[in-house]
Amino acid sequence: MADARSFYITTPIYYVNGKPHIGHAYTTIAADVIARWHRLHAREVRFLTGTDEHGQKVLEKARERGLDPKAHADDMVVHWKAAWDRLDLRYDHFLRTTDASHIAAVKQVLQRLHDEGQIYRHTYTGWYCKADERFWTEKELDAGKCPECGRAVERIEETNWFFRMGRWRDALVAHIEANPGYIRPESRKNEVLGFLRKDLEDLCISRPKTRMAWGIEIPFDHDFVTYVWFDALLNYVSGVGYPDTGSDLWKSYWPADYHLIGKDILTTHAVYWSTMLMALGVPLPKCIYAHGWWTSNDGAKMSKSTGNVVDVNTCIDGFGIDATRYFLLRDIAFGADGGFTFDGFLLRYNADLANDLGNLAHRSLSMSTRWFGGVAPDDGELTAAEHAIRALAGDAFRTWRREIENLQFHKALEAVFSVVGAANKYIDTQAPWALQRDGKTERLKAVMRTCLEVCAFAGALLLPVMPGKAGELLAKLGRTESDVRGWVARLEALPDGAPAPFDGLAGATLTLGDPLFPRLQELPPQVAALFAAAPAAAPARTEKVVAQPAPSAPKKESPVSEPAAVPEQITYDDFAKVKLRVAKILSAEKHPNADKLLVLQVDAGEPTPRQIVAGIANKFAPEALVGRTIIIVANLKPAKLRGVESNGMLLAAGGPEATDLLSVNALPGEIVK
Ligand code: MSP
Repeated sequence: MADARSFYITTPIYYVNGKPHIGHAYTTIAADVIARWHRLHAREVRFLTGTDEHGQKVLEKARERGLDPKAHADDMVVHWKAAWDRLDLRYDHFLRTTDASHIAAVKQVLQRLHDEGQIYRHTYTGWYCKADERFWTEKELDAGKCPECGRAVERIEETNWFFRMGRWRDALVAHIEANPGYIRPESRKNEVLGFLRKDLEDLCISRPKTRMAWGIEIPFDHDFVTYVWFDALLNYVSGVGYPDTGSDLWKSYWPADYHLIGKDILTTHAVYWSTMLMALGVPLPKCIYAHGWWTSNDGAKMSKSTGNVVDVNTCIDGFGIDATRYFLLRDIAFGADGGFTFDGFLLRYNADLANDLGNLAHRSLSMSTRWFGGVAPDDGELTAAEHAIRALAGDAFRTWRREIENLQFHKALEAVFSVVGAANKYIDTQAPWALQRDGKTERLKAVMRTCLEVCAFAGALLLPVMPGKAGELLAKLGRTESDVRGWVARLEALPDGAPAPFDGLAGATLTLGDPLFPRLQELPPQVAALFAAAPAAAPARTEKVVAQPAPSAPKKESPVSEPAAVPEQITYDDFAKVKLRVAKILSAEKHPNADKLLVLQVDAGEPTPRQIVAGIANKFAPEALVGRTIIIVANLKPAKLRGVESNGMLLAAGGPEATDLLSVNALPGEIVK
């Protein structure tokens, strides 16, 4: 049994039939953040990732390139490792399914299951989908097509080896029911239980070499290779020494704490993998967490086969490593789907990183270095305003910890940024430049120390998410990663409701340096080039249905703040084109295909209600909206959002996620100007 101080997290192993895109990066960044968070608690962490190199898909790609499949895999794996290194993903082991130790483990497992009668040979006829490399029963087909990918299927008669998966059905249902955290989120658990309500068939785990020879040979029948999923899933145990259950690696790390996966591979993990482990008598992992998809603007899953992928290198080239890591985890809830647009990225980059965090750090450091000679001042004269920020930070830490443990990265990050936002407002209200001018040194010390402590607080918590920039911020404050460990341990020890201790920085050496996140007035050239080169192929420019504030809304003037950006100006005639109307929400319901969207029926004073689809589901429960009188853009061209027509747009306050709707006390249909 793994020791309580150790922690094991895995990602899926990725097919080497293409290069990494942001969907793959998403899972791997999430795993890296959790791994780093546990390392900050001085736990022994093992973070496993790698590549899935056998099977039909990889073979076909290799053939297309005129290469031997292993040579193809050797060539492709370089791109995956390079992307993960570039993204600063600190995995402990990168496993390739062509590694000799993995192959040996798979063969031993097969031999053992065969010897125990858990694998048998059988001839059958079935519908086969080449793309998904699996057979479907007649009943499972969707209008005669593959229910997974919608492609045509072929009728094939074949002899194969089967794993007696069906016999484990009841035990698996019992395990899922007894361990509510085993499959998360809850909706995915219910999906699996729904799947298990039907009979569970046995699993075909071989492929005849005559049809597909690129795989691990079945040790007891040389005419067959192992089905790619049976081979790949075993990476999670072969990566920690299995079948040598006496090894330190195995004893320290199994069972895994988390298998992070995308929702597309839920059944293979929750059902195939769980039953394989049961057959081997190996304890099941503690949690299989299936997240949602990054989609393109029209809601389609980003995938190599549809060609609508966003290259993670473009994001890094345009916005930087840390901003890419931050954006992917902040912009959508882990578990839900979300549409990727570069405009959305730009907006969030400017709002959160440049205007909030970057601005706080730059203002705090430039004033402190100027007035205190590059050394953080002592506490000075503390008032209720400083205590309020400490209390807020204490609460934010507890929210952060809870949400990180729930893998709700967006909420954890929101909590940290609520303190950053409060500190920016605090600077504006405390006006340290006036305290300096009036010689109120003790108050000035208290204000600047509080700002610097908030920077250190944000730097510490953001370190797992943005190791580069948060590390830079901490270095500007004279702090190291080992200081952060001590600080996190102290925060962890706080009793509920206690304020954050802001006592670490007195006397620290401060360095101003360059702004952490310079504001971007427009899409970075590397991204803009994409649209110029292939406008049709590039991801859509915008999808936001919530009206957004200008990304670089100027902050209140202060003597040392950076010059405020001037928003792009429009003429009155431009503005007059926008027809705003008062509307009353008659009903609201969840969008059938998108977790972030709500479908509203509104009375805008017209003969019939109009339907508006709005990206506000993160903030509002549908029932809370009924009866509210809001403002809509009435002359926006109708558009289909994830398949549902939207006639207009509502106005909301907030960044990329709405914080409130603009409301008026007026009658539906009234003009707003
Ligand atoms: N090789 C299998 C996994 C075997 S694990 C034992 C496989 N590989 S894959 O290359 O297709 O990658 C699948 C994983 O990549 C998904 O489960 C998910 O974690 C991630 N993503 C791929 N596209 C994605 C999105 N568009 N959005 C979010 N994540 C997605 O399946």
